[in-house]
Amino acid sequence: MRIDILTILPDLLLGPFSDSIMKRAQEKGHLELHVHNIRDYSTSKQKNVDDYQYGGGAGMVMLIEPISILIDKLKGERSYEEIIYMTPDGELLEQSACNELSLKGNIMILCGHYKGVDDRIRQHYITREISIGSYVLSGGELGAAVVVDSVVRLIPGVLNDETSALTDSFQDDLLAPPVYSRPAEFNGWKVPEILLSGDTGKIEDWRYEQSLERTKQRRPDLLDK
Ligand code: ADE
Repeated sequence: MRIDILTILPDLLLGPFSDSIMKRAQEKGHLELHVHNIRDYSTSKQKNVDDYQYGGGAGMVMLIEPISILIDKLKGERSYEEIIYMTPDGELLEQSACNELSLKGNIMILCGHYKGVDDRIRQHYITREISIGSYVLSGGELGAAVVVDSVVRLIPGVLNDETSALTDSFQDDLLAPPVYSRPAEFNGWKVPEILLSGDTGKIEDWRYEQSLERTKQRRPDLLDK
Protein backbone atom coordinates (compact mmCIF):
# COMPACT_ATOMS: atom_id res chain seq x y z
CA MET A 1 0.00 0.00 0.00
CA ARG A 2 1.21 3.49 -0.85
CA ILE A 3 0.15 6.45 1.29
CA ASP A 4 0.97 10.06 0.39
CA ILE A 5 0.44 12.60 3.16
CA LEU A 6 0.12 16.29 2.24
CA THR A 7 0.99 18.64 5.09
CA ILE A 8 2.50 22.00 5.99
CA LEU A 9 4.22 20.35 9.00
CA PRO A 10 6.06 17.27 7.66
CA ASP A 11 8.29 17.03 10.74
CA LEU A 12 5.25 16.30 12.90
CA LEU A 13 4.85 13.02 11.03
CA LEU A 14 8.41 11.75 11.39
CA GLY A 15 7.94 10.24 14.86
CA PRO A 16 4.84 8.08 14.48
CA PHE A 17 6.20 6.13 11.52
CA SER A 18 9.82 5.65 12.53
CA ASP A 19 9.28 3.03 15.21
CA SER A 20 7.75 -0.33 15.96
CA ILE A 21 5.03 -1.73 13.70
CA MET A 22 4.87 1.21 11.27
CA LYS A 23 8.62 1.10 10.79
CA ARG A 24 8.57 -2.65 10.21
CA ALA A 25 5.67 -2.33 7.76
CA GLN A 26 7.83 -0.03 5.64
CA GLU A 27 10.94 -2.18 5.95
CA LYS A 28 8.98 -5.27 4.91
CA GLY A 29 7.52 -3.44 1.91
CA HIS A 30 3.90 -3.46 3.09
CA LEU A 31 3.80 0.33 3.35
CA GLU A 32 5.34 2.94 1.10
CA LEU A 33 4.89 6.24 2.88
CA HIS A 34 5.59 9.63 1.29
CA VAL A 35 5.22 12.88 3.22
CA HIS A 36 4.96 16.01 1.05
CA ASN A 37 5.45 19.57 2.25
CA ILE A 38 2.68 21.70 0.72
CA ARG A 39 4.89 24.76 1.16
CA ASP A 40 7.26 23.41 -1.52
CA TYR A 41 4.44 23.94 -4.03
CA SER A 42 3.63 27.52 -3.08
CA THR A 43 3.94 29.86 -6.05
CA SER A 44 4.52 33.00 -3.98
CA LYS A 45 7.95 34.45 -3.22
CA GLN A 46 7.33 34.17 0.52
CA LYS A 47 6.15 30.56 0.13
CA ASN A 48 2.76 31.38 1.63
CA VAL A 49 0.32 28.54 2.13
CA ASP A 50 -2.54 30.48 3.73
CA ASP A 51 -4.44 33.75 3.39
CA TYR A 52 -7.43 35.67 4.79
CA GLN A 53 -10.85 34.32 4.03
CA TYR A 54 -13.16 36.01 1.55
CA GLY A 55 -16.09 37.67 3.31
CA GLY A 56 -13.99 38.53 6.36
CA GLY A 57 -13.79 36.85 9.74
CA ALA A 58 -11.09 35.51 12.00
CA GLY A 59 -8.79 32.73 10.89
CA MET A 60 -6.74 31.92 7.84
CA VAL A 61 -7.58 29.54 5.01
CA MET A 62 -5.17 27.13 3.33
CA LEU A 63 -4.64 28.30 -0.24
CA ILE A 64 -6.05 26.30 -3.13
CA GLU A 65 -3.08 26.73 -5.46
CA PRO A 66 -0.21 24.83 -3.77
CA ILE A 67 -2.52 21.99 -2.74
CA SER A 68 -3.98 21.73 -6.23
CA ILE A 69 -0.54 21.69 -7.86
CA LEU A 70 0.64 18.95 -5.52
CA ILE A 71 -2.48 16.78 -5.90
CA ASP A 72 -2.40 17.15 -9.71
CA LYS A 73 1.27 16.16 -9.75
CA LEU A 74 0.63 13.03 -7.68
CA LYS A 75 -2.47 12.08 -9.66
CA GLY A 76 -0.44 12.47 -12.85
CA GLU A 77 2.03 9.88 -11.56
CA ARG A 78 -0.44 7.19 -10.46
CA SER A 79 -4.11 6.76 -9.69
CA TYR A 80 -5.49 7.06 -6.16
CA GLU A 81 -8.44 5.14 -4.77
CA GLU A 82 -9.12 7.72 -2.07
CA ILE A 83 -8.09 11.32 -1.46
CA ILE A 84 -8.87 11.84 2.21
CA TYR A 85 -9.17 15.15 4.01
CA MET A 86 -8.66 15.15 7.79
CA THR A 87 -11.25 17.45 9.32
CA PRO A 88 -13.36 17.59 12.50
CA ASP A 89 -16.54 17.69 10.37
CA GLY A 90 -15.73 14.45 8.52
CA GLU A 91 -17.15 10.95 9.15
CA LEU A 92 -16.06 9.60 12.53
CA LEU A 93 -13.27 7.05 12.07
CA GLU A 94 -14.55 3.53 12.82
CA GLN A 95 -12.92 0.11 12.59
CA SER A 96 -15.07 -0.69 9.54
CA ALA A 97 -13.50 2.23 7.63
CA CYS A 98 -10.00 1.10 8.69
CA ASN A 99 -10.75 -2.41 7.38
CA GLU A 100 -12.00 -0.95 4.11
CA LEU A 101 -9.02 1.37 3.67
CA SER A 102 -6.53 -1.43 4.40
CA LEU A 103 -7.60 -3.07 1.13
CA LYS A 104 -6.71 -0.03 -1.00
CA GLY A 105 -3.65 0.37 -3.17
CA ASN A 106 -2.82 4.08 -3.20
CA ILE A 107 -4.36 6.70 -0.95
CA MET A 108 -3.64 10.37 -0.33
CA ILE A 109 -4.28 12.12 2.98
CA LEU A 110 -4.52 15.92 3.15
CA CYS A 111 -3.99 17.52 6.56
CA GLY A 112 -5.91 20.71 7.26
CA HIS A 113 -4.83 23.69 9.39
CA TYR A 114 -6.22 27.03 10.56
CA LYS A 115 -9.85 27.38 9.42
CA GLY A 116 -9.27 24.59 6.91
CA VAL A 117 -8.64 24.38 3.18
CA ASP A 118 -10.30 26.47 0.46
CA ASP A 119 -13.58 24.58 0.00
CA ARG A 120 -12.98 24.11 -3.73
CA ILE A 121 -10.31 21.54 -2.82
CA ARG A 122 -12.96 19.60 -0.94
CA GLN A 123 -15.47 19.91 -3.76
CA HIS A 124 -13.18 18.92 -6.61
CA TYR A 125 -10.52 16.58 -5.25
CA ILE A 126 -11.52 15.03 -1.94
CA THR A 127 -13.27 11.66 -2.03
CA ARG A 128 -13.60 11.09 1.72
CA GLU A 129 -13.44 13.27 4.84
CA ILE A 130 -12.45 11.75 8.15
CA SER A 131 -12.57 12.97 11.76
CA ILE A 132 -10.82 11.03 14.52
CA GLY A 133 -13.17 12.34 17.21
CA SER A 134 -15.52 15.08 18.33
CA TYR A 135 -12.84 17.55 19.33
CA VAL A 136 -10.68 19.99 17.41
CA LEU A 137 -6.96 19.35 16.91
CA SER A 138 -4.60 22.12 15.89
CA GLY A 139 -4.04 20.33 12.58
CA GLY A 140 -4.86 17.15 10.70
CA GLU A 141 -1.41 15.55 11.11
CA LEU A 142 -2.11 13.66 14.34
CA GLY A 143 -5.38 12.49 12.82
CA ALA A 144 -3.56 11.32 9.69
CA ALA A 145 -1.10 9.39 11.89
CA VAL A 146 -4.04 7.69 13.62
CA VAL A 147 -5.58 6.74 10.27
CA VAL A 148 -2.31 5.36 8.89
CA ASP A 149 -1.54 3.37 12.05
CA SER A 150 -5.03 1.89 12.36
CA VAL A 151 -5.12 0.97 8.66
CA VAL A 152 -1.57 -0.31 8.09
CA ARG A 153 -1.61 -2.75 11.03
CA LEU A 154 -4.49 -4.53 9.26
CA ILE A 155 -2.49 -5.26 6.09
CA PRO A 156 -1.79 -9.02 6.08
CA GLY A 157 1.80 -9.67 7.12
CA VAL A 158 2.27 -6.43 9.06
CA LEU A 159 1.50 -7.92 12.45
CA ASN A 160 3.56 -10.89 13.53
CA ASP A 161 0.57 -12.79 14.88
CA GLU A 162 -1.77 -12.76 11.89
CA THR A 163 -4.81 -13.48 14.01
CA SER A 164 -4.32 -10.78 16.58
CA ALA A 165 -5.86 -7.94 14.54
CA LEU A 166 -9.01 -10.05 14.16
CA THR A 167 -9.49 -10.29 17.93
CA ASP A 168 -9.06 -6.55 18.54
CA SER A 169 -11.75 -4.52 20.21
CA PHE A 170 -14.39 -3.33 17.68
CA GLN A 171 -13.54 -5.98 15.09
CA ASP A 172 -16.84 -7.77 15.86
CA ASP A 173 -18.52 -4.75 17.49
CA LEU A 174 -17.39 -6.02 20.90
CA LEU A 175 -14.63 -4.73 23.17
CA ALA A 176 -11.72 -7.12 23.73
CA PRO A 177 -11.75 -9.33 26.87
CA PRO A 178 -9.21 -8.82 29.70
CA VAL A 179 -5.81 -10.47 29.24
CA TYR A 180 -3.28 -11.84 31.75
CA SER A 181 0.29 -13.13 31.71
CA ARG A 182 2.76 -14.61 34.19
CA PRO A 183 2.94 -14.88 37.15
CA ALA A 184 -0.36 -16.62 37.89
CA GLU A 185 -0.40 -14.88 41.25
CA PHE A 186 1.05 -11.46 42.12
CA ASN A 187 0.55 -9.70 45.47
CA GLY A 188 -2.18 -12.27 46.10
CA TRP A 189 -4.00 -11.15 42.90
CA LYS A 190 -4.90 -14.25 40.94
CA VAL A 191 -5.38 -14.84 37.25
CA PRO A 192 -8.92 -16.22 36.60
CA GLU A 193 -8.79 -20.00 37.13
CA ILE A 194 -10.42 -20.78 33.80
CA LEU A 195 -7.46 -19.37 31.86
CA LEU A 196 -5.15 -21.89 33.53
CA SER A 197 -7.50 -24.83 32.85
CA GLY A 198 -6.23 -25.65 29.34
CA ASP A 199 -9.87 -26.13 28.22
CA THR A 200 -9.86 -24.04 25.02
CA GLY A 201 -13.62 -24.30 24.48
CA LYS A 202 -14.40 -23.03 27.96
CA ILE A 203 -11.76 -20.31 27.66
CA GLU A 204 -13.31 -19.10 24.41
CA ASP A 205 -16.78 -18.99 26.03
CA TRP A 206 -15.36 -17.11 29.02
CA ARG A 207 -13.65 -14.55 26.77
CA TYR A 208 -16.83 -14.02 24.79
CA GLU A 209 -18.84 -13.45 27.99
CA GLN A 210 -16.21 -11.02 29.29
CA SER A 211 -16.27 -9.15 25.97
CA LEU A 212 -20.04 -8.93 26.07
CA GLU A 213 -20.05 -7.76 29.70
CA ARG A 214 -17.40 -5.08 29.04
CA THR A 215 -19.25 -3.86 25.99
CA LYS A 216 -22.55 -3.67 27.94
CA GLN A 217 -20.87 -1.67 30.69
CA ARG A 218 -18.59 0.62 28.66
CA ARG A 219 -19.97 0.90 25.14
CA PRO A 220 -23.62 -0.22 25.07
CA ASP A 221 -24.01 1.74 21.82
CA LEU A 222 -21.93 -0.94 20.04
CA LEU A 223 -24.52 -3.60 20.86
CA ASP A 224 -27.22 -1.64 19.02
CA LYS A 225 -25.32 -1.96 15.73
N1 ADE B 1 -8.31 18.35 12.33
C1 ADE B 1 -8.68 19.06 13.40
N2 ADE B 1 -9.42 18.35 14.24
C2 ADE B 1 -9.56 17.11 13.68
C3 ADE B 1 -10.21 15.93 14.06
N3 ADE B 1 -10.92 15.84 15.20
N4 ADE B 1 -10.13 14.87 13.25
C4 ADE B 1 -9.43 14.95 12.09
N5 ADE B 1 -8.79 16.04 11.68
C5 ADE B 1 -8.85 17.12 12.46
